[in-house]
Amino acid sequence: MPGETAVNFSLLHRTCKLVVLLCFLHISVTVVFYVRSLDLRFAFVQNQQSHNNRSTGLPPSTPEHKDVKDVKPVEISPEPKPPEVKAAADLQQCPETSPLLVGPLRVEFNMPVSLEKVKKDNPQVEMGGRFRPSDCVALQKVALIIPFRKRDEHLKYWLYYLHPILQRQQLDYGVYVINQDGDEIFNRAKLLNVGYAEALKEYDYGCFIFSDVDLIPMDDRNTYRCFSQPRHLSVSMDKFGFRLPYNQYFGGVSSMSQEQFLKINGFPNNYWGWGGEDDDIYNRLSSKGMSISRATGEVGKCRMIRHNRDKQNEPNPQRFDRIAHTRQTMMKDGINSLSYKVVRKEKLDLYTMITVDVGKP
Ligand code: BGC
Repeated sequence: MPGETAVNFSLLHRTCKLVVLLCFLHISVTVVFYVRSLDLRFAFVQNQQSHNNRSTGLPPSTPEHKDVKDVKPVEISPEPKPPEVKAAADLQQCPETSPLLVGPLRVEFNMPVSLEKVKKDNPQVEMGGRFRPSDCVALQKVALIIPFRKRDEHLKYWLYYLHPILQRQQLDYGVYVINQDGDEIFNRAKLLNVGYAEALKEYDYGCFIFSDVDLIPMDDRNTYRCFSQPRHLSVSMDKFGFRLPYNQYFGGVSSMSQEQFLKINGFPNNYWGWGGEDDDIYNRLSSKGMSISRATGEVGKCRMIRHNRDKQNEPNPQRFDRIAHTRQTMMKDGINSLSYKVVRKEKLDLYTMITVDVGKP
């Protein structure tokens, strides 16, 4: 019927118009959203870039980020530079967990490392091995104390790996290498006492890390700071198959607040040669009712640089007898009876080296 055909045709015509209109609307909305998302993405990249530059203060490639070097930087127009140093009063406390941590790290010792490169890679580390975050107030002031003699190669690796880690951990820290002068038998614990005393002459440190020169953490979440209990930091060493050799083990790397250290009268001064002094320290802590805090086995992994036993650091045959009497001797032998002579103090680019005469047995 002609009338009916005309009605059908006009209905079809209107439906088509509606479909075209809807398509147009759809395309317009899509285009608007697409353009907006481009804007957002651009702003995000810009933000990330400026945040990284401002808050890490780290060089573009740290040891752990070798592969990042090859990624082409995104071309963006430079932001106006923030003022170099904020007034201390403007700074907020750093967060409990640093946002700069990256987790597991590759640690190897088969490439040559030069102090010049370490210095170039860590431009924010100041003379004497001092650093503090520029964009927040560190939660702790930490002195890192390394007992030392003739281990320059190991020290290079330690500085190479640890400076970037400690900066990412947002610590206010200083590195003190306590070098035993002469060729007498080595005394690790006495050197640690000296490090404690000498570091305090320079700054009001509240936390002390006692670290062997050949131990490198494999995860930057293992924070080199102090805790409510003395901390054992070298929890799972490759040398021991990534496990604790025994539960009371407190060797390698540990941390103590000033209060914890003083409570046990510091460390023994009369362990000459290898072994036992760390067990004595453990005995001191447990006799004062303290327990050992540790990271998990995964976070506490660390690597030791393989080496032969040092000359003049033979196993101490008296160690078993001494460990058996810690409780009787500890309040007479320790930081309160420490005596030594500073032979030389050098403020170097990446650490402070203090050479000391600690005497002989
Ligand atoms: C020694 C410690 C040493 C540990 C692991 C113990 O027998 O007394 O000083 O750290 O073995 O080697």
